[in-house]
Amino acid sequence: MQKDRELIQAALDARKYSYSPYSGYRVGAALLAADGTVYTGCNIENAAFSPTICAERTAFFKAVSEGKREFCAIAIAGSPDGEMTQFSWPCGVCRQVMAEFCDPKRFTVIVAKSEEVYEKRTLEELLPKGFGPGNLA
Ligand code: THU
Repeated sequence: MQKDRELIQAALDARKYSYSPYSGYRVGAALLAADGTVYTGCNIENAAFSPTICAERTAFFKAVSEGKREFCAIAIAGSPDGEMTQFSWPCGVCRQVMAEFCDPKRFTVIVAKSEEVYEKRTLEELLPKGFGPGNLA
């Protein structure tokens, strides 16, 4: 789908900015907000290790900090430095952040090696029986 390809290209572009001197693992993400705006992010590592943030959360926190709360999809492109050799599924913490803002049945996660080679899942498939805002309502 053309929309998927555009989001994947944005994730691949964002991967260029990955700051990953410790792992050498470069990740880019592109988050599509409900209003059509795309927020990109990359992983940003830290010498103290635990302050490291994933590409997906960088994109989410950029968007939420600019007033967005509704999202349709995220594309993720991650691999060791160099060519895209892997599908980089989001870590558990990033899945939990998605669950805070996204409808699990509708929000789409795309992991890509290229614009042509990618896989898609709903958030519900990646985080079944998750804990979320509904639990505290
Ligand atoms: N990383 C992400 O950016 N997203 C994920 O979902 C998993 C891992 C980053 C964090 C760290 O900089 C590097 O990949 C290796 O774990």
